[in-house]
Amino acid sequence: MKNFGLDIWSNKNFIIENGEVKLNYKSMPSILDIIQEIRQDGVRGPVLLRFPHLVKKQIRSLYSYFDKAIKVNNYKGSFNAVFPLKVNQFPHALEAVTTQGAKFNYGLEAGSKAELILAMYKIPNGANITVNGFKDKEMITLGFIASQCGHNITLTIEGLGELETIIEVSKECDLKVPNIGIRTRLHSTGSGIWAKSGGMDAKFGLTSTEIIEAIALLRDAKLLNKLSMIHFHIGSQMSDIAPLKRALREAGNIYAELRMMGASELENINIGGGLAVEYDQHTKSKSRNYSIDEFSSSVVFLLAQIMDSKNVKHPNIFTESGRFIVASHAILVTPVLELFTQDYQEKLLNFKDINPPLIEELRELNKLLSNQNCIEYLHDALDHMESLLTLFDLGYIDLQDRSNAEILVHNIIKKALYLKSANPTDELEQLQIKLQERYLINASIFQSLPDYWGLGQHFPVMPIHHLNSTPLRAASLWDITCDSDGEIGFNPDEPLYLHDINLDEEEYFLGFFNVGAYQETLGMNHNLFTHPSEYTIKIDDDGHQIINEVESKNILQILESIGYNKDSILEKLENDLLMSDFIIEKEKDDTLAKLKIFVEQNGYLRTTN
Ligand SMILES: Cc1ncc(COP(=O)(O)O)c(C=O)c1O
Repeated sequence: MKNFGLDIWSNKNFIIENGEVKLNYKSMPSILDIIQEIRQDGVRGPVLLRFPHLVKKQIRSLYSYFDKAIKVNNYKGSFNAVFPLKVNQFPHALEAVTTQGAKFNYGLEAGSKAELILAMYKIPNGANITVNGFKDKEMITLGFIASQCGHNITLTIEGLGELETIIEVSKECDLKVPNIGIRTRLHSTGSGIWAKSGGMDAKFGLTSTEIIEAIALLRDAKLLNKLSMIHFHIGSQMSDIAPLKRALREAGNIYAELRMMGASELENINIGGGLAVEYDQHTKSKSRNYSIDEFSSSVVFLLAQIMDSKNVKHPNIFTESGRFIVASHAILVTPVLELFTQDYQEKLLNFKDINPPLIEELRELNKLLSNQNCIEYLHDALDHMESLLTLFDLGYIDLQDRSNAEILVHNIIKKALYLKSANPTDELEQLQIKLQERYLINASIFQSLPDYWGLGQHFPVMPIHHLNSTPLRAASLWDITCDSDGEIGFNPDEPLYLHDINLDEEEYFLGFFNVGAYQETLGMNHNLFTHPSEYTIKIDDDGHQIINEVESKNILQILESIGYNKDSILEKLENDLLMSDFIIEKEKDDTLAKLKIFVEQNGYLRTTN
């Protein structure tokens, strides 16, 4: 895996220079420098870094590719986008989205009452709000209130019941009626792990029969002029563009039919989300088969073609892609706390003035191993190892010789594995599984990478330093939760190699990339590990600034958030200590002070790493 697949997943956002990963932007700070600056203040555990310039880059890219496609296809409708709040509602992530999106009139999508209130609070003047998901009368009334307050809001109905409630509310109050959208239940399904958002058995949307009924209901209620949008969403992280094209043909024709049925204010098609992010690090398993250029051109071209063939006005295009906008803006950096089989390090070799001939031969093999000879040398090394073990059993070599032999042979195997990693033989694959190293990371997979735990979604991972040397260890990653699911196991099809580090002497940090979409709100407090401390990094030509620090919740805060009373916890612990018989007075005070410090820190491990 050359450069940890940086050229596949990083979208040129990062580069490797002087052995470190750097931001490929303006003053190009190294991630390690940023982390060390943050850790100077005693911060330990995992850290989440946000880079607003990457949100800006994605918003610009979305708008500019659609603008280009509109020009090239002489398209008459406009392009509009809304950010789906469910993808990341965290204040500093959303701040980046609304600030960077302001000049594009970038709107927000809400899928619940809380998100709708957040949208009404954060929406820039005049930008669009779309509302999806199941709605009760209260949520629909909130939509009316938003409309009355001047927001450009569209309530997308997921079923006829919702439309009936909209009509009911419109009769009951004098508030301004919001725009109405219809989510269509298409035949077309998406592709990838989230494909079930589309298709006839999808959870959401109206069938053609229900759409016809909806038009009749709207006409009767004299609200047909409020029907402004047709909506579909075939699933997040669409790996293949073909299902989108089928969905566009279906939805485009529904739009055209409805216009011809008299829905004269129907002017918008909302294509939902789906725009995928490249998460893979290995060329043989790329996440998607299209670019943003192809995506935008296909949408615009197909809609123009359908409308022109039916002589219908080109609709304005709306998208709700959020993963594409924010996934790349956040990196999780985790210290490695321990390597579990550290005993075969080259620096522990201790040769004598005169070594047994087979040891000398192993030294040569280790030195001269190359891509061409590695399989042959590996076989020689394994053969020598067998002989050396027999010599040891018979008392012809001593323990030091045996240790040297083991280190050399392990090293030869590791080098051969690395050299043949693109095309390993069966024998190498077996060796690789036996030799893998466990890296203990100071983080919780349940909290920070829940989609890995729940869906097997891979996130690009790599060391942020030590990149001048070749990583040779086949690695699996263990988190610090007491749960065997908290592991990213070594996968021979998508191998991860990390460095041999002596953690007593050096630090080792891993970066998990593209974690800015969904992971933060889906993250769970398993074992009561909380959202990592987060920082926003503003980069300019002269350097960078670390702002918006939000520390990870401390132990008392997390206990309080699930309903415990922190004063009562402290009181009980304090009393127990003061009442204890086996402790002298002075030590009681020191221990109490220590206890108070412990509970006011976050629960991640506080070793020097
Ligand atoms: C209706 C709707 N719009 C937008 C999105 C966001 O899509 P994406 O994850 O591709 O950004 C989703 C997510 O599933 C959705 O359900």
